[in-house]
Amino acid sequence: MNAEDLRQGPGLKFSIREGLCIERKPAPCGLVIFGASGDLVARKILPALQGLSSRGLLPEHFFVLGLGRAPLDEAALRSRAPGVKNLHYLRVDYGAASAYETLVRKLRGLSVQRGARGNTIFYLALPPDLFHPVTHKLGEAGLLDESSGGWSRVVFEKPFGRDLASARSLAAEICDHLKEPQVYRMDHYLGKDTVQNVLMFRFANSIFEPVWKRTYIDHVQISVLEAEGVGRRAGYYDSAGVLRDMFQNHMLQLLALVAMEPPAGFAADCVRDEKIKVFQALKPLDPADCGRGVVLGQYAGYRGEPGVSPASATPTYAAMRVEIENWRWQDVPFYLRSGKALRRRSAEIAVVFKHVPHSMFRELSPSNLEANALVFRIQPEEGVALTIEAKKPGPKTCLGALTMDFDYAEAFGEHPPESYERLLLDVMLGDQTLFPREDALEQTWSFIQPLLEAELPLRSYAQGSGGPAEAASLIEAEGRSWRQP
Ligand code: BG6
Repeated sequence: MNAEDLRQGPGLKFSIREGLCIERKPAPCGLVIFGASGDLVARKILPALQGLSSRGLLPEHFFVLGLGRAPLDEAALRSRAPGVKNLHYLRVDYGAASAYETLVRKLRGLSVQRGARGNTIFYLALPPDLFHPVTHKLGEAGLLDESSGGWSRVVFEKPFGRDLASARSLAAEICDHLKEPQVYRMDHYLGKDTVQNVLMFRFANSIFEPVWKRTYIDHVQISVLEAEGVGRRAGYYDSAGVLRDMFQNHMLQLLALVAMEPPAGFAADCVRDEKIKVFQALKPLDPADCGRGVVLGQYAGYRGEPGVSPASATPTYAAMRVEIENWRWQDVPFYLRSGKALRRRSAEIAVVFKHVPHSMFRELSPSNLEANALVFRIQPEEGVALTIEAKKPGPKTCLGALTMDFDYAEAFGEHPPESYERLLLDVMLGDQTLFPREDALEQTWSFIQPLLEAELPLRSYAQGSGGPAEAASLIEAEGRSWRQP
């Protein structure tokens, strides 16, 4: 990109001046992927490695060792990430002690051969019930011990626990073998460029932060809506449901980015310390009262999906009103909603400002003037939009809402990369900023737990609709309405 690049959009011009670019190259290392024959590796991890390779961001001295139970053709694996050199596959039985002896030998050989200096990432793309047994065996085999020079890091895919008690016991089990700086818990939403942009937007500009508070903001809406149904994931999803699958992690992490105080620096513990304060300030959901602030739904036809129990009471949709009890956000509701099989795919954060306090136009009351809204479009059509009231051209005094819209792909000439690219690179760099810390898990599970226990009515909604009617009532009862994605 030129130092100053001027692009033209319909009715819009924007210029991008090249600014600061922080680029770090990871140290030599090896990546061991458990579950390498699985779907996640094919869909996300290998394409992310390929993306990093084509951007020249993989370490010079690097290897990948995939482990799986199924026989797998190494050549087929390589063809999925042709830019990644030194990609190997080993068939193993995760439960067998001999598998770890073989792994130790194989790793020693590869590390010397490829110059990885004993630095190893273990990526557990496995069902959660294997997290502890595999970590335990890695620990017993001495593979997590950093005292002999090289470092060891372990990446856990979500879900990390299925409720507060199981998340706590998993945390206790793995800490027998791992220290917190070695642990990377995936929340792929945090790796999305448009999600990180919330932090840049807030803390790399001076004009937004002064209005980022209860005095000016009326409410915040966080929506992650999906058009797809459960698909082929019923085996996992029917025992999880939307609260575990989306709210305990992605939705609350998005909320924290909007609500947190400015961190002392863009460093892992500075950012994570501020997020924790938000989670601690969440007003607990009273089980007896959950029905008023929470709506759960299930799409019609869900029970007939392959692999779903015909009597399933699993929610595929939830909407809730959340309060943050602190100086900045007192009395500013955060409305959260997420669900499957909805009208269209759309994820966004909308910060809706208050109406003007007084209208200088006699014919109009303040509420006739549309409130300003700042919208972070996470996906698709990634971008940021600000609506303002403006005069329409002409001799008469006519006002209308104008949207200033920045489209990511139009401005930068490309769509944001896959979040797994950024997150894998951060693991190699040892940067935990975008990974939830153990105390965040504790706090977010504690917040969701009453909802897992409460017996709330399950509202039905049609596939391809906007969700249950009761979700609309939840926000409309307070004189507000959901934004139409
Ligand atoms: C995953 C959930 O974490 O996120 C899925 O398990 C969901 O159920 C997915 O579909 C949504 O991610 P994205 O990046 O497609 O919005």
